[in-house]
Amino acid sequence: MLIKNRRRWEISENDVTSESIFFNRRRFLKTSGLLVAGIGTGLVAGCDDGAEAETVSGALSDPNAARYPAPRNANFTLTREISREEVTSRYNNFYEFGSHKRISGAAQALEIRPWQVVIDGDVDKVLTLDADDLISRMPLEERLYRHRCVEAWAMAVPWTGFPVAELVKLANIKSGVRYLRMETFHNPDVATGQNEFWYPWPYVEGLTIEEATNDLAFMVTGVYGKPLPKQFGAPLRLSVPWKYGFKSVKSIVRFTFTKERPVSFWEDINAAEYGFWANVNPEVPHPRWSQATEELLGTGKRVPTQLFNGYAEEVAHLYTGNETMLYR
Ligand code: MTE
Repeated sequence: MLIKNRRRWEISENDVTSESIFFNRRRFLKTSGLLVAGIGTGLVAGCDDGAEAETVSGALSDPNAARYPAPRNANFTLTREISREEVTSRYNNFYEFGSHKRISGAAQALEIRPWQVVIDGDVDKVLTLDADDLISRMPLEERLYRHRCVEAWAMAVPWTGFPVAELVKLANIKSGVRYLRMETFHNPDVATGQNEFWYPWPYVEGLTIEEATNDLAFMVTGVYGKPLPKQFGAPLRLSVPWKYGFKSVKSIVRFTFTKERPVSFWEDINAAEYGFWANVNPEVPHPRWSQATEELLGTGKRVPTQLFNGYAEEVAHLYTGNETMLYR
């Protein structure tokens, strides 16, 4: 299997938008100082206005924490029960921490603060943002969403976050952009699964611009009324509930706007089984199992799978006239 060349943080100083515009300089300085003060001392650093508290271990706390639970958007409700947190938070796919479901413990090693996010590609100006600052600029709301894994299990969760369309607005994309490519962090020292060289790290996913700006496409920052736990893909994770779960990329560090269709992580591994479109479709079996039904996590119940995972009204128009998008 081919291993991709890493292209993380490859931006010149000139390309980066001025910190004074997009970066919370005060937090940045404090963070840098804290990293020095925190090592080996266990001291709580910082003595200004106390707007951000630190834990004794030196980790910064979430400056957006008080915004949870966010107001629920009544347009996104469910006709099935919300899955239990104790089940969904211990049954996760996050291959960076292991190719099994019990990664929640290992995922706690991920440092999510500070967390740098780059918005680049065909944009007026490349942006480098602190994730907390990005989130603080966004309108947070809670939405009840289904989630359907390609492995035929499903859950229903109250995500908190903001529409991906808001991020597209912030990016000031150039005309002619057709796709949004999203990339997960790459740090094999922390995410030991990334030492498994046969996977094409980092994890990459992509959407068309029409998909990314559809009202359902959601950038997740929290769940169950709280900031997002690491195993769910903190601090920023996608949710596109009409597609199989592998499209919902976790712990994103880079958003790239491009004219070229990105090759997704799983597509790269096996395009015949995990295609780029990955729209939920009970009529199209995975080559190795049926997609006609799904198991609701934590209940033992199996229910019929629905086209577009029940979101046909919202998204079917995106695919009219091109049936290949309904296959894989
Ligand atoms: N994102 C990254 N970076 N790495 C992954 O392994 N797994 C995907 C998706 N996003 C994955 C990822 C798959 S297959 C699924 S089903 C969902 O995350 C699982 O999300 P959950 O653990 O919150 O249920």
